Amino acid sequence: MEAMGDVRGNDQRITRRDLLRQGALGGLALGAVAASGGALLAACGTSGSSTAAGRRYLSPPTTAPPDDGATKWWLQGNFGPVHTETTSTTLEVSGSLPTELTGVYVRNGSNPLQGISPHWFLGDGMVHGVRLESGSAAWYRNRWVRTGFYDNGGGMSATGAPGGTATLSNVSVVQHGGMALSLGEVGVPYRLDPTDLSTVGPVSVDGGANSNMTAHPKIDPATGLMHSFGYGFSQPYLEYRIHDASGAVISNQPVPVPRSVMMHDFAITEHDVIFMDLPVLFDLQGAMRMVQDPASGALPYRWDPTVGARIGVMPLGGPTSAIRWVDIEPCYVYHTINATRQGNDIVLDVCRLDSAFAPATMPSASTRHRWTIGTSGERLTFSDHTIDVPPADLPSIDPRFRGRTWRHAWLAEVTSRPGELTFTGCQHIDMTTGRLDRWQPGPGRHAGEWLFVPGGTGEGDGWVMAFVYDHATDRSSLVVLEALDVAKGPVAEVHLPVRVPYGFHASFLTI
Ligand SMILES: [Fe+2]
Repeated sequence: MEAMGDVRGNDQRITRRDLLRQGALGGLALGAVAASGGALLAACGTSGSSTAAGRRYLSPPTTAPPDDGATKWWLQGNFGPVHTETTSTTLEVSGSLPTELTGVYVRNGSNPLQGISPHWFLGDGMVHGVRLESGSAAWYRNRWVRTGFYDNGGGMSATGAPGGTATLSNVSVVQHGGMALSLGEVGVPYRLDPTDLSTVGPVSVDGGANSNMTAHPKIDPATGLMHSFGYGFSQPYLEYRIHDASGAVISNQPVPVPRSVMMHDFAITEHDVIFMDLPVLFDLQGAMRMVQDPASGALPYRWDPTVGARIGVMPLGGPTSAIRWVDIEPCYVYHTINATRQGNDIVLDVCRLDSAFAPATMPSASTRHRWTIGTSGERLTFSDHTIDVPPADLPSIDPRFRGRTWRHAWLAEVTSRPGELTFTGCQHIDMTTGRLDRWQPGPGRHAGEWLFVPGGTGEGDGWVMAFVYDHATDRSSLVVLEALDVAKGPVAEVHLPVRVPYGFHASFLTI
């Protein structure tokens, strides 16, 4: 963790020292309940730590005991926050950046303004972006998202349940309706200015009962409509929305579900919407304990497989009253990969965990599963097939094939052993042939999500890119791989003057 006030870019906007001077870094004022997903990591009940060198990272305990004064793992090494907003316009580039790549690669993540947070998921959103222009790298910037929580000093302030502008906005960035939107687990989207990553302000998703929006909306490539949902902590617990090509919400329908569950992602096909009602429940006691004793590691979610798990299918666009459900084995899925309809069957690929937020379970990495949901009969049918590839998560596909029959997926690979889970490199899976291609960034270097950015016209024509952290230099770079030949290594690497903490999801802004 760098020293307070350390400036390694060309510009310093605000530092933790400034905040201390302004008195903004008082004790945590927790009173809200939120979680920011995007994790590829299973729940565990053990306390995490890292080595003195910060080169070994344990998977995040989602229900952790007190750390006895030791620094939480998510505040250490490259999980730990940076305390400076940097602008750099002199970036060294290795290799050759594709001239077709013009836009801003921007990735969101948890970066507590106050320097501490009760969980990796629960820091204030910070976006890190690199502007690429016709073969050159114009700038790097990182900026906190100026949410209601940020304006209140950072962290989750004691203003009641989260939602609306009471959000961390730390999970993803999506381009839609001519806007760049920062998204969190709950709360409204925050619009960003793609020219400098500053926050423009909140964007309303009103029209329903809650003001929450998933960090994983799906844009239908045929219509340009964005399909999303928001879950809340009171009825109706789930709402399904459609946003038109201008970004306006044109439909908002409650989805009948019996309880508030953490629903991080969903899926669409050309004709269907697929919801996952999985047994991670909102936990009021955990929320209260988190407020009263942040060091307890208590969280507002808990694993309760006794309530069962099920998949819901309804027509794309609704009505939500037509949703049908099929029971499945309890599990948790942070991320779907893609879904498509094949006749009467829906084929849905997911990154599956045996559980999440479960106490006293060791960490594990998610495995790839292909779920097939039969829709022809009076009752849905369900079958589960494991795809035998090394553990990985944070999937990316060619967005032009969202909801359609697809062939290619890219994922962030992890290595897993008891008590430890480590980001490594990139996986490319050809779903048609089963071929797996991989690229590893090398010793002491770790990547996160690999975002696919389209280039040519065919599926997979383009690049994947990710921030890669280098322990030796304590800096990060933006690595660009050819999407259909990741094994040959980077075609270009943009070297940054600072490190980018491990985070969640990225987007390539072309507005
Ligand atoms: Fe996510």
